[in-house]
Amino acid sequence: MSNFRTLDDVGDVSGKVALVRVDLNLPMNGGQVTDKTRINASAPTILELADAGAKVLLLAHFGRPKGARNSTMSLSMVVDAVQDVLGREIMFVPEVAGDIVAQSIGIMRNGDISILENTRFWPGEEKNDPEFAKAIAANADLYVNDAFSAAHRAHASTEGLTKLLPSYAGRSMQKELEALDKALGNPEKPVAAVVGGAKVSSKLDVLKHLVGQVDHLIIGGGMANTFLAARGVDVGKSLCEHDLTGTAEAIMEAADQSGCTVHLPYDVVVSQEFAANPASLRTCNVHEVAENEMILDVGPQAVEALGDVLKTCRTLVWNGPMGAFETEPFDTATVALAKTAAALSKEGSLVSVAGGGDTVAALNHAGVAQDFTYISTAGGAFLEWMEGKELLGVAALSL
Ligand code: 3PG
Repeated sequence: MSNFRTLDDVGDVSGKVALVRVDLNLPMNGGQVTDKTRINASAPTILELADAGAKVLLLAHFGRPKGARNSTMSLSMVVDAVQDVLGREIMFVPEVAGDIVAQSIGIMRNGDISILENTRFWPGEEKNDPEFAKAIAANADLYVNDAFSAAHRAHASTEGLTKLLPSYAGRSMQKELEALDKALGNPEKPVAAVVGGAKVSSKLDVLKHLVGQVDHLIIGGGMANTFLAARGVDVGKSLCEHDLTGTAEAIMEAADQSGCTVHLPYDVVVSQEFAANPASLRTCNVHEVAENEMILDVGPQAVEALGDVLKTCRTLVWNGPMGAFETEPFDTATVALAKTAAALSKEGSLVSVAGGGDTVAALNHAGVAQDFTYISTAGGAFLEWMEGKELLGVAALSL
């Protein structure tokens, strides 16, 4: 893992203005934040700086407003949620640069915290315009990036500012990078990856990268159907990207060559319709799926065998559910395998790292997220990391 400065290197910050890039791209419903995980993740960084006497300016994006102000995406909407988590009063500043920010800093006391407006209201953010970054940096003394989940974007607030101010990884960024390094950078072997989700096409680069990195690749979810079809299995009316069976075959060949075992389900849960607890529900061998049936989950025998594979492994990276887990009973395989992984992690025989929106929802649904070694706060950034890509916001922090 490359080296980066952390808050341990920041020195005396009393009276200094710290720009802290956090991820406040939070799920909302009816104007209310519905999940505070990302605020919780950055709370230690924010409070550490504030308690050391810094004036903390939180910098973040929300949604994709395309470089223009849009009241439905103002960060003023998340102020209450951030106050709740931090237990401090927060000021909202409707700008990111210029006199209004300077005046706000003027009335902040040491240890006060403010949230600046959505960085993406200005076109310079996504263009990573050096002039825009300069205008933001002009009001600050140091920059801390605590938003791993936005680090796959080379934007002014994630990359540009590192060129202008002394820059540090926040505690959440640091924890995330250390956990990911343990999982794929420098893992204890054997390593297993669980990759699930609906479509192969959305995770092609992940699969191609992983076959060269892991000892066991467990494929579940709708994407397993494309791999089964590539092996000549008739998957009935299951979700399947028939145009990608050649690619699936090539991935399996590459896996063979690098000594990675690809695990596909050999029994499956099928139904004639996709509905909760349908009358036509049954479990069968993958070779017995009827023309009018669709595969909606991995079967119990395969789940047991996959659990046995995990018992032989020391490290696990997980992205994507094993079945259509939002609809019962097609959550069964995901829940069962997640429970096995969680139990192995709890007893200390497995380092388990999971990430991606659906995955975290699935592990929460299984009630085992807290027993995984590390759950990433990232969606797109986690996938890019699983693809082996350099995350530009992380690279910018490297020494
Ligand atoms: C996320 O929610 O995954 C991050 O905040 C990145 O958001 P983006 O995909 O709009 O860049």
